[in-house]
Order: sequence, then C-alpha cells, then structure tokens
Amino acid sequence: MASTAFWLAVCSVAAMNSLVFLCSQKVVADFDSLQDALGFLPKELYPVLFKAAFMDKRTLSLQLLVNTWPFPVLSFQKLLRKCQHCERALIREKPNKYCIQMVISGVVTYLIKLLENRRGSKSKGPQQRLQILDMTGLQDEGQGPESMSLWSRTVTLAKACLDISKQQGKWTRRTSKRRKSPYSKPPGPPALPPVSVDVWVDLFVNSTSYGVLKDALQINSYNALRLRCRDFRAEELSIASTVGLLEFLDPVGVRQVDLRFNNLGLSGLRVVLPHLTKFTNLASLKLPYSNVDVRRLTVGMEGSLQYFANQLSRLRCLKELNLGSSRLSGKLRLLLGDLQSPLESLELAFCYLLPNDLAYLSQSLHTPALKKLDLSGNNLSDCLLQPFQGLLMEAAPTLLHLDIMECRMMDTHLNVLLPAICRCSRLRYLGVFGNPISAKGLKNLLHKTVGLLDLKLVIYPYPVDCYGDDLPWPPTSSNLLNGNVDEEKFFRVSNELQQMLLSANRADVTWTTNLCRHNSLDFFSL
Ligand SMILES: *[C@@H]1O[C@H](CO)[C@@H](O)[C@H](O)[C@H]1NC(C)=O
Ligand SMILES: *[C@@H]1O[C@H](CO)[C@@H](O)[C@H](O)[C@H]1NC(C)=O
Repeated sequence: MASTAFWLAVCSVAAMNSLVFLCSQKVVADFDSLQDALGFLPKELYPVLFKAAFMDKRTLSLQLLVNTWPFPVLSFQKLLRKCQHCERALIREKPNKYCIQMVISGVVTYLIKLLENRRGSKSKGPQQRLQILDMTGLQDEGQGPESMSLWSRTVTLAKACLDISKQQGKWTRRTSKRRKSPYSKPPGPPALPPVSVDVWVDLFVNSTSYGVLKDALQINSYNALRLRCRDFRAEELSIASTVGLLEFLDPVGVRQVDLRFNNLGLSGLRVVLPHLTKFTNLASLKLPYSNVDVRRLTVGMEGSLQYFANQLSRLRCLKELNLGSSRLSGKLRLLLGDLQSPLESLELAFCYLLPNDLAYLSQSLHTPALKKLDLSGNNLSDCLLQPFQGLLMEAAPTLLHLDIMECRMMDTHLNVLLPAICRCSRLRYLGVFGNPISAKGLKNLLHKTVGLLDLKLVIYPYPVDCYGDDLPWPPTSSNLLNGNVDEEKFFRVSNELQQMLLSANRADVTWTTNLCRHNSLDFFSL
C-alpha cells in the first residue's frame, strides 16, 4: 500500500498527468471494457474519466459516462478545469463539437429512458440521479471545423429540448386518447414531467435561430429538459423578438444581458428596459451599438433619456454597463447619477464624451470601485485629457483593466497620463492600440510600467515612425489602420521592446499589437 501511494505521489509530482489520468485515458479508449468495468469502478473516478474522454474525444465513452452519471450535477467548468490529475484547462480551449453533441445527446437519451421506465412499469424504475447539466463557461471562439460556437450550442440545445418534448407529447397523446370520453374535462395546462434535467447555459441568438429558441423556451416550464439561462446575448434582433425571448428567461438565473447591433435607439430601450428589471441578479448589461444620440434632444427624447436612467437605477445588482457607440455627450450624470450602488465595469467607447462627463465620473460613487474602464475612441488629445487624468487618479487603486484605444493620443498626451497609469498598481491589462505614439513613446511607456507587477498584457499600436512618410499628421484612427507599416522597422522595434522586458525580468508580460487576445478578457473573470 505504502509503495503504491508513494509512486502515485511521485507520478503526480513528476509528470504533467498523474497515473490515475493515464489509466483513465486507457480505460475510456476502449468502449467495451469501459462498459464492462463501469459497474465496479468507484463513482469518484467518474470526473477524471470524463475529462480523459473529453480530452481524447472518446465520444462513445463520453455518452456512456453521461448516461450513467452518478452525481446530481455535471458541470463542464468543474470537470474540464486544471486538476490534480491533469494540468490542461480544457474549459479555456475551443470546445470540441463532437464531444459537446455527445454530452447533450447523452442527457437526452438518459431522460428518455427514465421517462419510458416511469411510464412503462408499475414500479418506478431507477432513481433519477442527474439533475443539472451546467454548460456555462465554455469558450466561444467562433466556428472551427471541430469546435462549436456559442451560437450553435444554443441551437443544438434548443433542438434537444424540442425533441424531448415531442417524445413526451406522443406519450401524453396516447394516454389521453385512451382516456377520452364524452364527459372528460377540457385539457388543462400540460402536466409537469415526472423527471427533468435543468441545463444551465449561456445563450446567443440572432434572427436565424430566434424561432427554434423561442419554441424551446416557450415549453420550458413543463419540459423534461429545461434551459436555465445565465448570460443572454442577442444580435441584430428586432425589439419585439428580443422582448419575446426575455419574457421566457428565468428571473433569478440571468447574470448578463447583451443586446448588440440591435439598433434599439432610445425608443427601443424604453420598451426593452422594463423587461430587464425582473432579473433580480442581473450584474451586467451590455447595449453597444444601440444607436442612441443625445445631441439635439427633442423634449420627448429628454423624457425617454430620463426614463432610461430611471429603469437602469432599478437594476439593483448592476456591476457592469456597456453603452459603447452611443453618443452620450454631456449626459453621463443624468444616465448614471441615479444608480444606487457603484459600477465596477464601465464601457463607454466611442461615446463622444465631454469634459463635464469625465468630471462627473471622477466625482461619482462608481470611480473608486472601477475594475474595468473602456474609454476607447474618445478624443484624449484635447480638452478631455486633463479630466481623464483626474479620473484615472481616482480609479487607480482598483483598476485592473484599462482600454484607451484609438484616442488620438500622441507621446505628449501619454506623458501627461503616465504618472496616473503608474499609480494603477493592480493593473493587469492596458490597451493603447490605434494611438499615434512613436517607438520612443512606447519604450518610455514600457520603462515606466515595468514596475506594475500585475500587468500581464499590453496591446500597443504600430509606432508612427514605422509608417511611410505619407501618413497625415495628426493621423486619424483610420489613417493608422489603413496606413502602410514598414515590416522591417516594426520588427526591429518589437524586438527592442521584447529585449527591454527580458532585461527587466518581465518575460511574464505580453506586449503585442494583436487584438485577438483582447476578446477573451471578461469582466466576470477579473
Ligand atoms: C446568425 O449567426 C449565425 C452564426 O454566426 C450565422 O451563420 C447567421 O448567418 C446569422 N444570421 C443572420 C441573420 O445574420
Ligand atoms: C480631437 O482633438 C483634436 C485637437 O487636438 C482635433 O484636432 C480633432 O479634430 C479632434 N477630433 C475629433 C474627432 O473630435
């Protein structure tokens, strides 16, 4: 015994994957032997077997494990994270399409079998074990050949709900036909199913998938497979459709609502916002590209703006707000002044903010609580610079994430901000892409921020001295985006930056011009 324990300990320290994990990989590789062995294996091994099967894409084994899952909860976040047996955090990778499909179909067959047993035999059949399938936390990195986007997962799950409902429907119809008599009462609401599984999930819908999701949500309350939405995202959906879906979401479970490119305008927001106040745990509201424009307000619009602010203040748990790409010039106090508790994340990119907006913000209850601030696309080369510097000083103790991309900042403006940036001692991320900064300015930024020990990612612009002579001055963001960068010159600068990081012992910081890294930074993971 002692020596086995000793070797297990050695293995788990010495190897990336423990002996238990290596054995699990062997077991799930052979479906027949897994089937034979399952009855004898202690149920404590299910999690590691699941991870091994998911990692090696043993889809049949995966389905079998789901079918016989011995615990009430099957959670992707818990099962696919880095664990004592295997270092890999599969939850942070693109989810494999076939594995996800198999888990869903595993739950469907499990439920159908249970329902059949309940119906067929007088005895109640096997006890229900699995109650919750938690699919939240999976990545959404778009559609690859083998990966599955959030959009497709939403469609797949909605279809699974409809499939189960059809099965249930067939049985109910058969029973009700048998019972039919001239004196029978008219049918009431459908009966609750004897067994059910809740699927906790993030949903992403557009007009293409609206119909199927609506159908699935509509039958949710009496279906054996039920969608419980955590984060809800709708893109390019009409006001009526958006409201049509919000109506069916669980009031307690929803954490985030993200309505983008929906062109709602103030009048649309007026309709949608009251439907959000029922979500008692709503912590994040994202309304980018809502097409709100407060310049030249008519009297009616002023009222709508006030109403919008009022509805916002009724979201008692709100921590994150994104109003990006709406023109809010001069109206920030009106919009945020009624909120009772502080926001921790505020995204106001391309909002045409004025100095009095930033002055209000730096005095507001939000600023000392801010973890994430996005002021990209606001002109910091002019009269916004001083108030922004003041704001940054106030937010510095808490700020983890700062985006000031495409702000027309040159070296001189950056130099004004540097003392405030250096005060952000907990800063993990800084985005300055799309600003006309020189190589010298970037080196100065690196030199000054190298002491920010939590800083792990900086997205910096192509230095202006790496562009051709035809770059207009001062350049706009689109001049910078579309201008020609001399690859050789840029290569030299980026090398110098890397060297500076190395000699400062900060190989742990990523300095990059690549915006892709930016997408994975989520407020809830801060
Ligand atoms: C909805 O999203 C899916 C997946 O990204 C896409 O294939 C489809 O074209 C979109 N529909 C519309 C109407 O844009
Ligand atoms: C930003 O400010 C600069 C002044 O430095 C001005 O020239 C420019 O027109 C402003 N840009 C916008 C889009 O307001």
